Amino acid sequence: MKIKMISVDKTTYIKALEARVKKCKRCSLAFTRNNPVIGEGNLNARLMFIGEAPGEQEDLQGRPFVGKSGQLLTRIIQAMGLSREEVYIANILKCRPPGNRDPYPQEIENCLPYLFFQMELIRPEILVLLGRIAGIALFGTQFSITRMHGQLLYFRGIKVIPSFHPAYLLLNPRAKKLAWEDMKNVLKQLNLPIPDKQ
Ligand code: URA
Ligand code: URA
Repeated sequence: MKIKMISVDKTTYIKALEARVKKCKRCSLAFTRNNPVIGEGNLNARLMFIGEAPGEQEDLQGRPFVGKSGQLLTRIIQAMGLSREEVYIANILKCRPPGNRDPYPQEIENCLPYLFFQMELIRPEILVLLGRIAGIALFGTQFSITRMHGQLLYFRGIKVIPSFHPAYLLLNPRAKKLAWEDMKNVLKQLNLPIPDKQ
């Protein structure tokens, strides 16, 4: 017997998510945002980066990691021998908290289903969590970036390696060495060659 499958491609699903998030009013950030930031990159990516929330530039442009932190993230991705186009980049929150304050737990709870949808759709081999807030969002308040960075964890059956947030690295350049060790572990998990950069 032949089974007919209706195939809807991933782009269609992500567009539907985008339309939904644009109308989202689950929290008050809906009233202060200029643009929600859904995410961007390869919908078949093996590697997905998850940051905290859009900042000023991201809110204005509707794209993740395009400000100062974003430039550093782009350089980290390139140092790994990859490009932004071949990974996927998203955030815990889709909308910018005013003045870049930390997200409230209720905002995280409201917004996470959108990220989970993206994770299920993309099914990356590894998630890289950028910073403390992303770690806490997925693993709870006992999460410590200082203790857990670079370690292989699992979330819903997907490998996770937490590392430092690029904004933190800009303020604490000495932690870049540790972050690079974390990224080497990511590459190892993906069976990709480790460029001998720094
Ligand atoms: N910081 C984040 O956590 N995400 C962005 O998209 C930009 C800055
Ligand atoms: N504190 C944070 O919020 N993020 C980091 O990456 C490190 C320390």
